Amino acid sequence: MQRIPEPELMDEFEQARAYAEADFSEPNERFTTLFAEQFPGLRTGSMLDLGCGPGDITLRLARCNPGLSVHGLDGSRPMLDFGEARLRNEPDLAARVRFLQGILPRVTLPLEAYDAVVSNSLLHHLHDPMVLWRAVLGHGAPGAAVLVMDLYRPESTGAARRIVETYAGTEPGVLKQDFYNSLCAAFTPAEAREQLAACGLETLEISVVSDRHMIVAGRLPA
Ligand SMILES: C[S@@+](CC[C@H](N)C(=O)[O-])C[C@H]1O[C@@H](n2cnc3c(N)ncnc32)[C@H](O)[C@@H]1O
Repeated sequence: MQRIPEPELMDEFEQARAYAEADFSEPNERFTTLFAEQFPGLRTGSMLDLGCGPGDITLRLARCNPGLSVHGLDGSRPMLDFGEARLRNEPDLAARVRFLQGILPRVTLPLEAYDAVVSNSLLHHLHDPMVLWRAVLGHGAPGAAVLVMDLYRPESTGAARRIVETYAGTEPGVLKQDFYNSLCAAFTPAEAREQLAACGLETLEISVVSDRHMIVAGRLPA
């Protein structure tokens, strides 16, 4: 099916609340585990989480890697408010985690270059997917670790509906609709491969890791 783009920012309060209250522990824990598996030596330094939303992954990565400073960036104030509220409940992370508001591609960040750049479920929101890959290149240090996970687009709207019912059948309607819209807006692995080639990121590898998720992982050119 053809891609159907969705709005970039999730900046309505109710939408952000439904997302923040949903249980994404399984994919979010998987993301954290994948990072540890892909980059076992990376336990210190700086990490940037692009499109961090309510910060569940940002905080999981900070908890698992006590030597890392983690900056979460998002354009949505309501999403960041949820992230900051969570951070207030974990004072031990306060010195190492920061949530920053900024809309890609025009953002100014506290660090010039990060040792790791990660992102979950941002790519499919972007009208121009190159915005993500340019941000990865622009904000990652040479040789930086990169882990991007996103949905990939099913073959048909029917397949998208089936995925929504399988994994979010009992979630609130607003969340189910968001999930459906996201599947329809997602890129295919083949499209992601073309995007990487177009900006010289062939060092990153794409793998399909579930019936709805793909990851892009590797290191930036040194
Ligand atoms: C589906 S959420 C994913 C949140 C988080 N990464 C997670 O896995 O739970 C996508 C997030 O990307 C943010 N976003 C979309 N386009 C953006 C842009 N151009 N700049 C910054 N943030 C953006 C949205 O506001 C939203 O919070």
